[in-house]
Amino acid sequence: DKAGHKHFMSKEIAEQPVVVAEAIRSYLPTGSDRVNLPGENLDFSKLDRLTMVACGTAFYACLTAKYWFEQLAKMPVEVDIASEFRYREPPIPGRTLALFVSQSGETADTLAALRYCEGKADKIVSVINVPESSIARESDLALPIHAGVEIGVASTKAFTCQLAVLLMLALKAAADRGTMTDEELSDHAAALRGLPTALNTALDQNRPIRKAAQRLSEARDVLFLGRGLMYPLALEGALKLKEISYIHAEGYASGELKHGPIALIDKNMPVVVMAPRDALFDKTVSNMQEVMARKGKVILVSDDDGIAEAEDGVWATIRMPHIHSSLSPILYAVPAQLLAYHTAVAKGTDVDQPRNLAKSVTVE
Ligand code: M6R
Repeated sequence: DKAGHKHFMSKEIAEQPVVVAEAIRSYLPTGSDRVNLPGENLDFSKLDRLTMVACGTAFYACLTAKYWFEQLAKMPVEVDIASEFRYREPPIPGRTLALFVSQSGETADTLAALRYCEGKADKIVSVINVPESSIARESDLALPIHAGVEIGVASTKAFTCQLAVLLMLALKAAADRGTMTDEELSDHAAALRGLPTALNTALDQNRPIRKAAQRLSEARDVLFLGRGLMYPLALEGALKLKEISYIHAEGYASGELKHGPIALIDKNMPVVVMAPRDALFDKTVSNMQEVMARKGKVILVSDDDGIAEAEDGVWATIRMPHIHSSLSPILYAVPAQLLAYHTAVAKGTDVDQPRNLAKSVTVE
């Protein structure tokens, strides 16, 4: 049942304020600023490091979480693609938490990576959407993301729910390890509770996003740029676009632009810049200006302050509400998803069942 939507993907994008709210409610009980995990409790003060393993969009959720665990909980984090991790067979030092992220809980490489960690890592934890899945069953602790059934092959609401749960896990780690003040923890809890409203505001930008997508649908290649927490989101935006619209897209850390990809920029190259007005904004804007100086066509995704400061000469702008900087990748996922969706619709591709892809990759 597509609930009046043309595709499951658009229904699932639209559901995000509700499912993300559900995920937040279940880990952050009303009236408390402390994260509560279901089932067995985890004590991060007894752990020294984190190894996160996943595939595809779930891997990008892990890359985002690396920033959170490092910045908020001061924990060293390794992030790996499951198919690389399992055959590389990396050493797992003591006091390591191995964390596996998977919507389906059945991804073959992720499951094999989990089995490799059995008996080596101190604890095996998974962040999953399907509670009765193999990955959930074989973990010491399985944390549900509460996204509900996801049917579109392109993962959307599972990604934002994974991010919400991973951020709350990082806050729990910070509280256990004493790396954040009570006030900082309360700030984050309040910001999380405001997130569903912000996601709704982002969804209201559907029309300008569709207009920008109309332009993107003419492109042969598209570049996505971001810094800090926006870098993994640039990778995710590019993956979304290529998998459903079949347009070649790449995500890059803005700072890498001059180490190669700038050679690609000309008047035919749209560049999507994900840049909330945060501490790294000026740096990203200077990369964006390098793109425009070479006639690249910039789609700037930012907030009021960012757009007021940097919109001169850009091709299109997409306006997001202002948000606590830790939460920006969750919010900015919405325009990334909608851009891909409307581009695919404009091209007439099969949005929910893109060619050559399966929802769950249970074979290598
Ligand atoms: O079920 P999983 O989360 O383990 O799946 C991982 C990837 O196969 C998945 O995220 C894939 O990249 C999506 N099609 C991306 O939209």
